[in-house]
Amino acid sequence: MKLWIPFAVSAGSLLTIASFVGAGWDAPPVETTQIGSRGTGMYIHRDVEKQEALKAANVVPPAPWQADPAGDKARDLYENVQVLGDLSDDQFNQFMASITEWVAPEAGCNYCHNPENLASDELYQKVVARRMIQMTQAINVDWKAHVGQVGATCYTCHRGQSIPTNYWYEDVEPKPAGNMTQNRQGQNVVAKFGGGTSLPQNVLKDYLLDAKPIRVHSTTALPTGTNPAGTKETEATWSLMVHMSESLGVNCTTCHNTRAFNAWDESPPQRVTAWHGIRMVRDINANYLAGLTPVFPDARKGPEGDVFKVGCATCHAGVQKPLYGVSMLQDYVDALTKKGPTAVPDYSTYQPGTTQKMAPAGQSSALPMTPTSQTAAVLLPSTQNQTAND
Ligand code: HEC
Ligand code: HEC
Ligand code: HEC
Ligand code: HEC
Repeated sequence: MKLWIPFAVSAGSLLTIASFVGAGWDAPPVETTQIGSRGTGMYIHRDVEKQEALKAANVVPPAPWQADPAGDKARDLYENVQVLGDLSDDQFNQFMASITEWVAPEAGCNYCHNPENLASDELYQKVVARRMIQMTQAINVDWKAHVGQVGATCYTCHRGQSIPTNYWYEDVEPKPAGNMTQNRQGQNVVAKFGGGTSLPQNVLKDYLLDAKPIRVHSTTALPTGTNPAGTKETEATWSLMVHMSESLGVNCTTCHNTRAFNAWDESPPQRVTAWHGIRMVRDINANYLAGLTPVFPDARKGPEGDVFKVGCATCHAGVQKPLYGVSMLQDYVDALTKKGPTAVPDYSTYQPGTTQKMAPAGQSSALPMTPTSQTAAVLLPSTQNQTAND
């Protein structure tokens, strides 16, 4: 048996060399920038070829037209405007045109609206979109410590797609078959949301939905009992850190002096921005996306039945500042940089496909609307059911 091992090894290396030669393998050109003091090993390495593709994919679309802020308010002109009521008619129409381009350029207005009755909330996409407007306003108003003056619009995440390219959901497959010996502690498979490593696979739930502490570093040389974290927590933290690094297309050294991962006074300022980013993402996921669970159809959820959630890559898409730090907000000041009403309807009463108006309690919640068209009339029976149930 033993004799075969060297043979196998050399055959293996020959094959490897052959495959490099065959494919004309060459090291990719890498661009290196020093970002810390000499001797600290703090560099960012970037694959030059990938940079071109990233630049092409991160161009900000222009506003369809400059909106006139004067004129009657949307709330007085339309029947069911609950968040954007303060916009002028022109601003409102400009915003509808923009979100169509950002979220559903192919389906158009009908992705969110029944064209016969624009006021009805019968398509779940419209109910989600209204909540997303509140969410984007909250990002720009409450999370300036992260998004600064650049801020975010729907385009930052959606990029012309109804479901953003980068999201996460609870990742626990394949489930261990049974008894204790087969428990793999949630790791040792390809962690989809942990950069394809074999680190713990479902950690974004702990850190980017729940607020589990991200503290594993001991501050004393010997285990004195002050640090409750063990190897398990450390591995989970690294899985999150790999997600963060991959999302921004950076190395650990963008935020840490690896001499001491814990030391804030030795960390670049980006680490503080990232700290606020972690809290912002928890707010987005816990207070906006998770709440929409009853509204999303099952086909739009992950294998565990949870809604798709936001991670660092949802906005960053592989670059250190989303869209290279170019702001789109100047064209949407009234729609996205201030908060409209923040009240939330009871989504558990939502009946998809029914002519209805979802509104917070006290504001005619989930009231069936007068059907104004043929389409609405077809839906009337379920509207009546809803009244009967109320
Ligand atoms: C991504 C979803 C989405 C798309 C696409 C969309 N809308 Fe809307 N629309 C909404 C939401 C959400 C509201 C309610 C806003 C609020 O409550 O503040 C709304 C409200 C309206 C209203 C007010 C209706 C009323 O009487 O209450 C009109 C008119 C309207 N949209 C027109 C359009 C037009 C025209 C297009 C296509 C250019 C369009 N929308 C595309 C989500 C969308
Ligand atoms: C921080 C990132 C982020 C921002 C900003 C954002 N969205 Fe979303 N949106 C998501 C994610 C993630 C989903 C997918 C949720 C799911 O499928 O479970 C989603 C889903 C949606 C859907 C449902 C699509 C479908 O087909 O199921 C609509 C409609 C939508 N967003 C509209 C908007 C609008 C309009 C804006 C701007 C006012 C906006 N979003 C801003 C992350 C974002
Ligand atoms: C985009 C910035 C960023 C990048 C990139 C990053 N980290 Fe972090 N790291 C943070 C922040 C912020 C915290 C603290 C989080 C908190 O307290 O909520 C942290 C915490 C940690 C901790 C825990 C420190 C302690 O006090 O116990 C470790 C370990 C760590 N990071 C390792 C890494 C490794 C390894 C990498 C590369 C794979 C990495 N980080 C990449 C921002 C970053
Ligand atoms: C809602 C979109 C959004 C999400 C989600 C998001 N970011 Fe950001 N992030 C931004 C914007 C916008 C900026 C640019 C702010 C500026 O230039 O003032 C930024 C800037 C940063 C920076 C500073 C970059 C620099 O060089 O100055 C870091 C670091 C960062 N984000 C880390 C993260 C991490 C880590 C996460 C996930 C926990 C995250 N971000 C999630 C929008 C987002």
